[in-house]
Amino acid sequence: MSKSAVDAYWMPFTANRAFKQEPRILKAAEGHYYTADDDRRLYDLFSGLWTSGIGHCHPQIVEAVQEQVATLDYALGFQASNNRSFELAERLTAMAPDGFTRCFFTNSGSESVDTALKIALGYHRANGDVERTRLIGRERGYHGVNFGGLSVGGMPANREAFSACLLPTVDHIRSTSDLEFTAFSRGQPEWGAHLADDLERLCSERGGGTIAAVIVEPVAGSTGVLPPPAGYLERLREICDAHGILLIFDEVITAFGRLGEPFAADYFDVVPDLITTAKGLTNGVIPMGAVLVREPIHDAFMHGPDGMIELFHGYTYSGHPVAAAAGLATMDVYEIEGIFEHARELAKPFETLLHGFAGHDKVIDVRNIGLMGAIELAPRENEPGARGMEVHKRCFWDENLVIRNGMDTMQFAPFLNADRGELEDAFERFGRVLDTVA
Ligand SMILES: Cc1ncc(COP(=O)(O)O)c(C=O)c1O
Repeated sequence: MSKSAVDAYWMPFTANRAFKQEPRILKAAEGHYYTADDDRRLYDLFSGLWTSGIGHCHPQIVEAVQEQVATLDYALGFQASNNRSFELAERLTAMAPDGFTRCFFTNSGSESVDTALKIALGYHRANGDVERTRLIGRERGYHGVNFGGLSVGGMPANREAFSACLLPTVDHIRSTSDLEFTAFSRGQPEWGAHLADDLERLCSERGGGTIAAVIVEPVAGSTGVLPPPAGYLERLREICDAHGILLIFDEVITAFGRLGEPFAADYFDVVPDLITTAKGLTNGVIPMGAVLVREPIHDAFMHGPDGMIELFHGYTYSGHPVAAAAGLATMDVYEIEGIFEHARELAKPFETLLHGFAGHDKVIDVRNIGLMGAIELAPRENEPGARGMEVHKRCFWDENLVIRNGMDTMQFAPFLNADRGELEDAFERFGRVLDTVA
């Protein structure tokens, strides 16, 4: 790759200057492996970016996309739409928990989040509940990068440069993670359900009747895999019900099998009012997101003259036919290949492998649930994030292994159809790096 090409691309969420001194460039992928531009094969222990649970270039999805792009490449989506978008909407609402009868398409997780927040605000307004304008997020939450999602998100570094322009009507409840009480939990920590009462506190301070919606990731992903404490989501649901607040689960990572179930809502048996998705919806092949909505929320908008647009919101590429074809093929593969069942069975061996690092002298926490895992490393003195970044790079260059680090937390998202042997091998390579890194 020429230096001018590398320089031209201002990369997202990347230390661009450091990256460009030693670019890590991938040019092909198949199954569970990437091919780098120097022809090395690298094992992908992050399923793309939590996206590609059934492996790269799955032949059935490739074929569906090729066929669709040659049949109907694009069709307008306002006041008319393509056949595939309807088929996928029906498929997703059938897969969703009972009562989720409507699906609104977007092109990313960030757009799904902003769409869900707008639907929540619009719902209360449509019901004449005009005082409900507050939105509640959570510290260490990640809801994408658009202004709504950034406002409810709880990652200070993402918000800092834009803080003057974030929504003024947002509060945050506390994060559920505190290593003093939760370190080395397997699955859901026993400690922390009481933190849901932060919402009750905000209801007292602000007035429960002023809060439109609460948005949480059922398992916080991007901030390093923080499973919810036992009883926490149930308590949030109770408080929302008591105050007429909508509960939004941001399932951009957790939907479509990451926890061995179609949705985290199924896994935890806690049903929200709206669910945001993206990533696994198309196995990462074509950008697409979807917001799943319960019937009464949709119906609240359906008033006024029939010919009137009910929700003034949408994207040029909402329900894009090629993305929808990829989504349909992905849903087929999930079903035909028993992907969610396999993911469920793999969760325990994955947990065992991860927690095998619990006694390592550089490790301060190990967390996991389903096929989401994190190993938090002790930061180097005065150099937060440096050790994690070095582990990432050493895995890439020395061990042909792609993993992700968020600062000093190494994150793992195995393929939903991985086998135990390949995970053992991958963690052996990771272990060699961890043993020798400074
Ligand atoms: C929970 C959650 N919400 C929203 C997003 C944003 O998705 P996107 O990057 O597709 O905009 C992400 C991305 O990782 C996410 O994990």
